[in-house]
Amino acid sequence: MTRKTITSALPYIHGVPHLGNIVGSLLPADIFHRYQDLRGNDNIFICGSDVHGTPLELEALEQNVPVEELKQKNHEKVKSVLNDFDMDFSIYSNTHSDFNRRQTHDMFVELYTNGYIKEKKQTLPYSDEDERFLPDRYIEGECPECGGLARGDQCDECGTLLEPEELIEPYSTISGSEDIEFRETEHLFLDLPQFQEELLEWLENNDSPIPDNKLEEVKNSIEDTEMRCITRDINWGFEIPVERVNEKIADECLDAEKLDGEVYDEKVLYVWFDAPIGYIGFTRELFEDDSRWKDYWMNDESEVYHSIGKDNTIFHTVIWPSLLLGSSTEDEKYNLPHYEFIQQFLMAEDTKFSKSRGKGLSTEDALEMYPSDYWRFYLAKNLPQQHDSTFSWDDFESEINNVLNDTVGNFVNRTLSLAEQWFDSEVPTAELRPEDREVEEEALKVVDEYIEAFENHDLRTGVEKATEIARIGDQYLSEEEPWNNEDRKEETIYVSLHLIRALGVMLYPYTPEASQKISEMLKVEIHTEEGDDELVEPLLGNLNSGHELGEKEILFEKIDVSDQKDGNKNEGASDENMEKGLVSFDEFQDMDLRVGEVLEVEDHPNADKLYKVQLDVGDRQLQTCAGLVNHYSKEELEGRQVIVLANLEPTELRGEKSECMMLAAEDEKENVELLGLENELEIGSKVR
Ligand code: 2FM
Ligand code: ZN
Repeated sequence: MTRKTITSALPYIHGVPHLGNIVGSLLPADIFHRYQDLRGNDNIFICGSDVHGTPLELEALEQNVPVEELKQKNHEKVKSVLNDFDMDFSIYSNTHSDFNRRQTHDMFVELYTNGYIKEKKQTLPYSDEDERFLPDRYIEGECPECGGLARGDQCDECGTLLEPEELIEPYSTISGSEDIEFRETEHLFLDLPQFQEELLEWLENNDSPIPDNKLEEVKNSIEDTEMRCITRDINWGFEIPVERVNEKIADECLDAEKLDGEVYDEKVLYVWFDAPIGYIGFTRELFEDDSRWKDYWMNDESEVYHSIGKDNTIFHTVIWPSLLLGSSTEDEKYNLPHYEFIQQFLMAEDTKFSKSRGKGLSTEDALEMYPSDYWRFYLAKNLPQQHDSTFSWDDFESEINNVLNDTVGNFVNRTLSLAEQWFDSEVPTAELRPEDREVEEEALKVVDEYIEAFENHDLRTGVEKATEIARIGDQYLSEEEPWNNEDRKEETIYVSLHLIRALGVMLYPYTPEASQKISEMLKVEIHTEEGDDELVEPLLGNLNSGHELGEKEILFEKIDVSDQKDGNKNEGASDENMEKGLVSFDEFQDMDLRVGEVLEVEDHPNADKLYKVQLDVGDRQLQTCAGLVNHYSKEELEGRQVIVLANLEPTELRGEKSECMMLAAEDEKENVELLGLENELEIGSKVR
């Protein structure tokens, strides 16, 4: 039997995962893995935090904590939230693990000595004051497209991909220095064009390794592929294994350039290099580096499945398979991915469902509102397999109330109540009639369709098929009316209990908590061990007459989403208002504007244009970082009454806390005037 390795895209850890991460990659992978467990198939589910790269390094710098410490803290938090979402990982590690370092270095050495990594010169921004290059988020400036605040690789406001040279008035995000020059430096590039042919072959396999709707796009990306930079001038990442590479070149007398330690000891590998390698690194960790990990990655008998969101497509269909091909050797060949689940986006109000744009829900918030099963069920039913799908609170409420409660919960509850009332909670002895056999046939057909859906990688249909069993059972009970027919009590309850068992099994990938409750209520275990298939025929007969049932439990509760919808309105503007550019009176009222007094003004230690200001706002003292250096002297500010937004979400500006805002007006010539009062009022007075 084939072994299966199932992976989910690794979540970043600056911020907790949002529902977009869940629906985009984690949930489909977990559903598929749990299904394999139900079938008794040998499989592993691999995931971990994606921890390298500039965002975390910068966050650590701002908070003035060692980056490894911050990494560990954020990683633990994300791990715990995913656990609350019932992700059944075989291992959840992080990309900084030693196992991943080993695997990353192993693959780098092979790629380099096989001639797939090349050196190229690049001109990049350098800050004299910081004595370093400023990659990606280390440099910010004005976006040439929209005028918004943009970083070295991209404008967050309008999404344009940028080169650092294009930024207007760029400055270092570390020191604030505007003294930026462009210097030449060497970097290492992955020579992707060398893999084109093999990648196209992989794609053209009869059993397509990616969803059909993605084939054309991926083919084009393979055909257009270029060299890709895999090193960065930062500290947080894996070091480049210069010594190992050079030793191998010397030992094996290879015809390859040695790497210059003076250049490459200062650089690290790019986050997207070691992240997918984490899938293998974590498998090594799972098996404590025993060679068994190879059975899951290098063996004809094993299949690798990835689950990703569409924004990760190029990385998993061009770059990752190239890394696998280029680091394979004659004796040890990595398997190319057997299938990749690629989800489109889940949208909320026509925007991508992600916290970073201030939309959508974090996983933590979601779980505070409703149990994990409710989300998993709804999201599975709305998996964006083919098209972007839209989250709607009304739809969510109707699925939970009408399907989970009225169909599934009701059928289970009705059957178990009757079993308690009539048979003292024991499985009755029954002599089945043809009409009972027909129900069994009907249910078995649905089980087959459920299996077929999984074989077709159609996880959305799977959940429909599971609830279909409850619908069949509910209808059967309503038609047979055993409460009006003494003769039919035994058979109908006997059949219904078996349908509940099938339901509990089929819901296991989707709503594992409900599935567990069903298993406790029936006092039958759902087997997930290798070799134990839970989806085998027949459907009737696997609960013995006389088998004692467990306690009845409530499976689901009805929900009312009106609070969440109202909560949402207060959080941001409604759709209609946003379109018209209006704010509601309620939204205005949410702003705590008041009279404050400037207590103390100091120079900001890391930014030339900012002051660090202490303010009295009546009931407390607040700190803000204000860009007033070119407009007011410290003396002009101290003692002044100003208008303060006192409930601004606290943030850090270049390493200093900023938790409120002094209001000011600015004209086109950049003249700035602070807002104040004609006559003084008591500090803390409300502005309305
Ligand atoms: O886009 C993301 O969220 C990345 N952290 C995904 C990495 S997947 C894998 F390649 F590691
Ligand atoms: Zn822009």
